[in-house]
Amino acid sequence: MAFPQRFLDELVARNDILDVVSSYVHLTKKGSNYFGLCPFHNEKTPSFSVAPDKQIYHCFGCKKGGGVINFIMEEENLSFPDAVRFLAKRVNMEVPEETGDRESGRLRQRVLELNREAARFYYQNLQQPEGAAVAAYLERRKIHRKTAMDFGLGASLDSWDGLLTAMVAKGFTKEELLAAGLVVQTKQGRLYDKFRSRLMFPVIDIRGDVVGFGGRVLDKSEPKYMNTPETIAYSKRRVLYGMNLAKKSKRPNIILCEGNIDVITMHQAGFDNAVASMGTALTVEQTRLLSRYTKELVLCYDNDGAGKAATQKAIELLNGSEFSVKVLQLPNRIVDGQPVKQDVDDFIKNQGPAAFEALLSGSENHVEYRMAAIAAKHNFADDQDRIAYAAEVSELIAQLPSAVEREVYAGRAAEQSGVSKEAILLEIKRAQRRFYAKEKKIQQRRELNPADQQQPSERSFHYADVRSAMAEEGVIRLLSRDESLFPLCAQLHHEEFSSPLLGKIYGALLAQQEEGQSSHVAGLSAVLTPEEMSHLSLVLQKPESLTNAQQALADYISVIQASYQKRCGDKETDPLLAAQERFQIKKGYGGKQV
Ligand code: CTP
Ligand code: MN
Repeated sequence: MAFPQRFLDELVARNDILDVVSSYVHLTKKGSNYFGLCPFHNEKTPSFSVAPDKQIYHCFGCKKGGGVINFIMEEENLSFPDAVRFLAKRVNMEVPEETGDRESGRLRQRVLELNREAARFYYQNLQQPEGAAVAAYLERRKIHRKTAMDFGLGASLDSWDGLLTAMVAKGFTKEELLAAGLVVQTKQGRLYDKFRSRLMFPVIDIRGDVVGFGGRVLDKSEPKYMNTPETIAYSKRRVLYGMNLAKKSKRPNIILCEGNIDVITMHQAGFDNAVASMGTALTVEQTRLLSRYTKELVLCYDNDGAGKAATQKAIELLNGSEFSVKVLQLPNRIVDGQPVKQDVDDFIKNQGPAAFEALLSGSENHVEYRMAAIAAKHNFADDQDRIAYAAEVSELIAQLPSAVEREVYAGRAAEQSGVSKEAILLEIKRAQRRFYAKEKKIQQRRELNPADQQQPSERSFHYADVRSAMAEEGVIRLLSRDESLFPLCAQLHHEEFSSPLLGKIYGALLAQQEEGQSSHVAGLSAVLTPEEMSHLSLVLQKPESLTNAQQALADYISVIQASYQKRCGDKETDPLLAAQERFQIKKGYGGKQV
């Protein structure tokens, strides 16, 4: 099932974590560790650390961590076996292939080939009489032939097995068609085409692979869009429609819009930096992809409720990130004296590319956008309402990190509302004080409750017995730092650990040691999940002195074993008896229910 441990150990030893991480992250030495900006979440101050002595990384911000294999899995978006292959290639090591993984790698390759053939099939349909309805639809939406070609648009047929038959004829199997999500299976086991009578949008990733499809109906029927489900090649969280083209754009920023048609219209109008997520709100994975190409994002979602919610969500996700974020608000169109909402597609078609360019160069940054949203809720003619506005907008401005910015926006809020700037600045001071007081309270609560502080952030790893778990962590730290301590653990069994995860790690360390393998914890990524590795990296980052290690280890062991004995004792008490006892006590308090 897995790669031989000996091979993994050598792989980890030859791929020094500092070398590998340094080619992705700029690291600066601080003490014995190295720090940099975390590649896995957006941040401005470095909380991502690499410990070369332990060969692990850990981010104090997003809590991700692990060994070199985990890093590559996360950074290159690869499965465990693919990350192993990636690292092996890096140092010219031969990979002892095992059939299961080779199969899955091969299947993915076949799915990509199949997707490419399917895209070709849909594209050809569009040029044939069968594709006339889709061609007419494109004309109606004013999408030119050249644009349709650039995006490889196509037509799925009005047939249950048009694609199925064509692809089987090309030698693809039913399993491959199912794995690509291009066909669906009935309960009776019959297969039929997933996409029928739709305008087809192939989704092409930045490497140029066709990873999946979107399909839009031509009429008002539902669902309006259908997308490839999650497959071995397609993950909606990780792709952005149009990114294969936008990455080549000369424009300084990337525009995020709401849909496939929006992206196509924008590119056609000369905004070749437009992309969209398909069937999902903006995700962290997508922001990581974007950050390879730009540091400036323009949000251009629809001007309706859903679009506003999407804008708000994206701003929250991007808050505190390295991106500068602008929000482009599409004005309503006035038809017969009435405001009508429009999306980018409508806007460009109604007002033209030049109007959009003007909108783009003047697009507000996110503070202005949020200020405008607050202003829209209040009526400045009403004194009471003006005060409420001042309070709310101050709350927002108080969160800005720079004093200059706070000045500027306080001035703007004052101008807009007619409240004096001094009054607004005073409100901001108050909001800041409230904010600090709240922070301090949270901090104090944490200090009062050290047990809480020690709990893993991942809920499923919750420590039922914190005292024992702290000792268990200590054992793991000591063993990973000094191999000569292993013999002292002969009497400590992993079953005695209170935390199943720490017990599992301990067991794995012992097994590694017994097999005479190096006790590099990075090698454990073969037996631990990425979440478990992240937790391990956190445990290893905590301080642990090696002076007097033998005594410390003995103390830890006695804490663990005493806790274990106590838990066993608890279990032996008759639960019925215990319940009766509790009942008696309650009765003793005058029969009151507690
Ligand atoms: N979408 C989806 N599933 C749906 C509806 C929408 O995945 N049932 C996604 C599509 O990627 C779509 C985007 O959400 O492009 C935006 O939806 P919508 O605004 O309804 O579509 P438009 O792209 O504006 O399409 P059109 O202009 O053709 O109505
Ligand atoms: Mn639209």
